[in-house]
Amino acid sequence: MIITVKPAKSLRGELATLPADKSVAHRAAIFAALAKGESVIENYSLAADPQSTLQCLRDLGVFVKQNKSQVVISSNGRLAFKPQKTQIDCGNSGTTMRLLSGIVAGAGLDITLTGDASLSSRPMKRVIEPLRTMGAKIESSPGDRAPIRFLSHEGLKPIEYILPVASAQVKSCVLLAGLFANGETRVIEKLPSRDHTERMLGLPSEISKHGARILKSSSSFEVKPGNTRVPNDISAAAFWMVAASIVPDSDVKLMSVGINPSRNAVIDILKRMGADIEVEVVSGSRDELLAEPVADIRIRSASLKAVQLHENEIPNCIDEIPVLAVAMAFADGHSEVRNAAELRAKECDRISAVVEMLQNAGVNIIEHEDGFEIAGNQNIAPKSSDYRSFHDHRIAMAASVLSLKSAGESTVADAECVSISYPDFYMHLSELCQ
Ligand code: S3P
Repeated sequence: MIITVKPAKSLRGELATLPADKSVAHRAAIFAALAKGESVIENYSLAADPQSTLQCLRDLGVFVKQNKSQVVISSNGRLAFKPQKTQIDCGNSGTTMRLLSGIVAGAGLDITLTGDASLSSRPMKRVIEPLRTMGAKIESSPGDRAPIRFLSHEGLKPIEYILPVASAQVKSCVLLAGLFANGETRVIEKLPSRDHTERMLGLPSEISKHGARILKSSSSFEVKPGNTRVPNDISAAAFWMVAASIVPDSDVKLMSVGINPSRNAVIDILKRMGADIEVEVVSGSRDELLAEPVADIRIRSASLKAVQLHENEIPNCIDEIPVLAVAMAFADGHSEVRNAAELRAKECDRISAVVEMLQNAGVNIIEHEDGFEIAGNQNIAPKSSDYRSFHDHRIAMAASVLSLKSAGESTVADAECVSISYPDFYMHLSELCQ
């Protein structure tokens, strides 16, 4: 599907129904499947990735009932999976595949995890290696890609694992596998990545004398069923934060957005750029059952200035970098994103995709192996362009936000991929645009 995006005079309005946080939704469902009993998840995301997780859990024999955004999960616990299939399809979702790898390996199931073309090209060595060290028997496709075949084994042993990449998916995979191993598994992270797994499960942790976080799991750790509400997704909200900042005369309010400190660097980065952002933390009844802290966020247009991202904030804003690059194009001065080679291992190579997108718009951008530099200018009028999305939802949405600033119409190809995380994106775009 090719979408045409018209330039916007302003963006105005309130969005109460942003998509629910994908990272939290995957985990709420997976952790409910690990617990003995019934869990109810409110505000579950209807986007394709979290739906892939639900289907995988059904295929593992877990009872899953969905009514609109409410999901009821009933499980006999982590030792009682009864797979209905030998091949389980994770779709486009890296989080589904990497987190379920820990569980399928831990439970010793004879299962192959598959994915679409994009997921089958993404690196899986990062989960296969530690799981093999724990004793899992795994066959993978050349280059350690999906499909990944797990074979039954004698049981996992605990490990101490220093994360070679700042990845919440790898951290979670090893910790989840650790729930099946006798003894303590310790995962050491030097650069903090999103902490939803340890926060939602309540896993024990400590700080090493060198300042690294050590997270622990073991088979004696009890995963309890419970009722939770998923906050709205800050990664989806980020598109409107940038759009409202760069399009003049804008005023947008985003409701009940998750502001977990390991995910909210986008707010701080935009504020450093001079964005006009008000964050009102929500407490009281809307707070009930929430897995994570939330806030209502109001954004008005502002003159932006360049920014340099710090190495330790990269994992905290990794998914927001494509749209932050759009903000940088309209920010006076020299912006720089480095130490972000992980962007090349996402749904597409997001460094080359961002570079192509901004070059097509006439923006001055230099590519590096681990990032890019942008010479921004708040007065540039980007060229109308036919953007490629690379079948990557975040590139499609970033290109759409960029198109709002062009003098004429632009197009975004394969724009249906937004449904991976944000099925209503184009509906919200037309609601907000004046
Ligand atoms: C996610 C972690 C991040 C992020 C992805 C979701 C998660 O990936 O890019 O969209 O839910 O754990 P990495 O942990 O591999 O960096």
